[in-house]
Amino acid sequence: MAYQVIIPAAGQGKRMGAGRNKVLLELNQTPVFIHTLKVFEMDEDCEGIYLAINPLEQDEMEALLKEHHITKVMAFAPGGSERQHSIYNALKCVKQEGIVLVHDAARPFIDKKLLRPLVEAAKEDGAAILAVPVKDTVKKVAGNMVTETVERTSLWAVQTPQAFRFAILLDAYKQAEADDFLGTDDASLVERIGKNVIIVEGRYDNIKLTTPEDLYFAEAIIHKRRK
Ligand code: CTP
Ligand code: MG
Repeated sequence: MAYQVIIPAAGQGKRMGAGRNKVLLELNQTPVFIHTLKVFEMDEDCEGIYLAINPLEQDEMEALLKEHHITKVMAFAPGGSERQHSIYNALKCVKQEGIVLVHDAARPFIDKKLLRPLVEAAKEDGAAILAVPVKDTVKKVAGNMVTETVERTSLWAVQTPQAFRFAILLDAYKQAEADDFLGTDDASLVERIGKNVIIVEGRYDNIKLTTPEDLYFAEAIIHKRRK
């Protein structure tokens, strides 16, 4: 089942503290965003990759795409001040039909086998996201005082990719812009226009590289997969 994928890569990686965009850091001699793009390059259902980038990094990224034989990038969209703006810019470039995935460049360990069930679920129900059950006990806190222990059985930690019928995602983004709403993921924009979002169970190793210790986890995942 064919799909297109938007990959936001235009962040600054402030929490990583590497002094540069974390998606350009190398894991196993290959930049993080190249690891991510390779999954889609190698998935025959993927019809095109739309990359949101910092224009100042375009030359460097284009050279790396060439070096690593990534051929499916159809367009570079300029990144915005927030992830949501970067994705909206890229959404304006995609072919206006079918299923569109959004996947963070900073999440390089997506299992290709999960793409098909995710795309199928989006085709069926309009919107589907990868998520895993929360393992920790989660509490609400005010200041340093616990105010509530949240019932864990209904909590899921959400990942990308997230998959949508094109028309639903575009509606959601238009409405968010009109309302000046900023969400922390794409599905939240879809939820607020009253559409259902389906969970597809993902894997705990689909980590997002966010803070420096995530690089240790990443090395461990790469090491394990090589065996
Ligand atoms: N992203 C983007 N445009 C932005 C912000 C983020 O395209 N204005 C991308 C990042 O490159 C990353 C993904 O969105 O692939 C997830 O964002 P996040 O993990 O928050 O990355 P950064 O924003 O780069 O990191 P930080 O928030 O620590 O600065
Ligand atoms: Mg960010």
